[in-house]
Amino acid sequence: MDRTSRHGSEGPLTNAGLVRRDLAAVWHPCTQMKDHETLPMIPIRSARGVWLEDYDGKRYLDAISSWWVNLFGHANPKINAALAEQAAALEHVILAGFTHEPVVRLSERLLSLAPPGLSRCFYADSGSAAVEIAIKMSFHYWRNRGLDKRKFITLTNSYHGETLGALAVGNVALYKETYGPLLMETISVPSPDCYEREPGESWAAHTRRRFDAMASALERHAHETCAVIVEPLVQCAGNMRMYDPVYLSLLREACTRHGVHLIADEIAVGFGRTGTLFACEQAGITPDFLCLSKGLTGGYLPLSVVLTNDDVYDAFYDDYGKLTAFLHSHSYTGNALGCTAALATLDIFATEPVIERNRALAQRMRGAVAGLEDHPHVAEIRQHGMILAIEMVKSRAGRVPFPWQERRGLRVYTHALAAGVLLRPIGNVVYFMPPYVIGEDDIALMARTAITGIELASRD
Ligand SMILES: Cc1ncc(COP(=O)(O)O)c(C=O)c1O
Repeated sequence: MDRTSRHGSEGPLTNAGLVRRDLAAVWHPCTQMKDHETLPMIPIRSARGVWLEDYDGKRYLDAISSWWVNLFGHANPKINAALAEQAAALEHVILAGFTHEPVVRLSERLLSLAPPGLSRCFYADSGSAAVEIAIKMSFHYWRNRGLDKRKFITLTNSYHGETLGALAVGNVALYKETYGPLLMETISVPSPDCYEREPGESWAAHTRRRFDAMASALERHAHETCAVIVEPLVQCAGNMRMYDPVYLSLLREACTRHGVHLIADEIAVGFGRTGTLFACEQAGITPDFLCLSKGLTGGYLPLSVVLTNDDVYDAFYDDYGKLTAFLHSHSYTGNALGCTAALATLDIFATEPVIERNRALAQRMRGAVAGLEDHPHVAEIRQHGMILAIEMVKSRAGRVPFPWQERRGLRVYTHALAAGVLLRPIGNVVYFMPPYVIGEDDIALMARTAITGIELASRD
């Protein structure tokens, strides 16, 4: 490893030196930069498997898959090899008027794996861009079909990204509020979030009951609504709140009956996160638009894709007549290296029993935090497959939350960093979303660190 700076004058790279330069030049995402007057910035030199390593040689277990993208570990030898070979042949080419083998093969493979009926892949470079594409395509579909529909139905507590269209169909105030004046209006329906179920009520019963609000919104607004957009099974950025697959079955049926599209945003939950390759499989449904990103490239490169069906595709196919084409374009659309990383990722799914193995890992994660079940500051431990969340509260009785200003989650974060684990609670929700190559000892360390972190953070 070359430990000297490329500029020469700064000497060997160290944590302290790099952080100083970083804070003078870089503006970080999702960050109040002033926090870094006290909060450490961690410069990562290298990573392998579930472990990140900084310039002082300290290691951190990546329990959140680096913002939920990594599936098969950092520096995965199979993905590395595929990328090196592709880089030597073709790194990128414009996708308008041109094509390449990786994008063709990836499209064929995604369509063969996705819920039945999806027949076309449209590419972009981030999750938010995929959501923009799905909402534009849906609006444009109805317009090409001669209908003036403009509305979207969304769930409370949902998150679909941070570009303006994606923010508009999301509902987390922290990200949305400031930009309210710039956003289109949407119809918001209460989330099926099972944290809000009555004591003793099953997930399925609560989820079913919560569907009533969606059913009546569709009754009232179907004539003006392009699509309903949901995060299947887990509202990840919305405090990892979860619901039962029955919601998706009811929603699919109602959308079809009312002539409204269904957009499934599986950007965070796709590729095995919830226990099936796609979360929609658990309800046996096919959405009109399936948005994928994050795990698509195994966590290597920015790539996203929207899968849709022949009915949508045909609504744009014309000789410059009534049907206008879908012109949405990004420079890096269908990037050949991104597609290659995605193909190598799908190869791992094809050759290893990933979903089966994850079932065992998911059980082990649950067992490792079983000691928190009756903890006075834990209201709930919930899980869908490889996503496990622990809701910290001020008091378990009545589920009284900690005031957000107390930033208890941040205490867990700093404790975990000191212990060599990257946990990044959302508010007061501590969660695990590790790469699928996590070992038994690593699960034990991750859980131990979360438990001691919660102990410390919930003290007065
Ligand atoms: C469900 C969901 N949709 C969309 C996005 C936005 O993806 P990106 O951050 O790649 O724009 C995210 C990101 O966390 C997400 O969780």
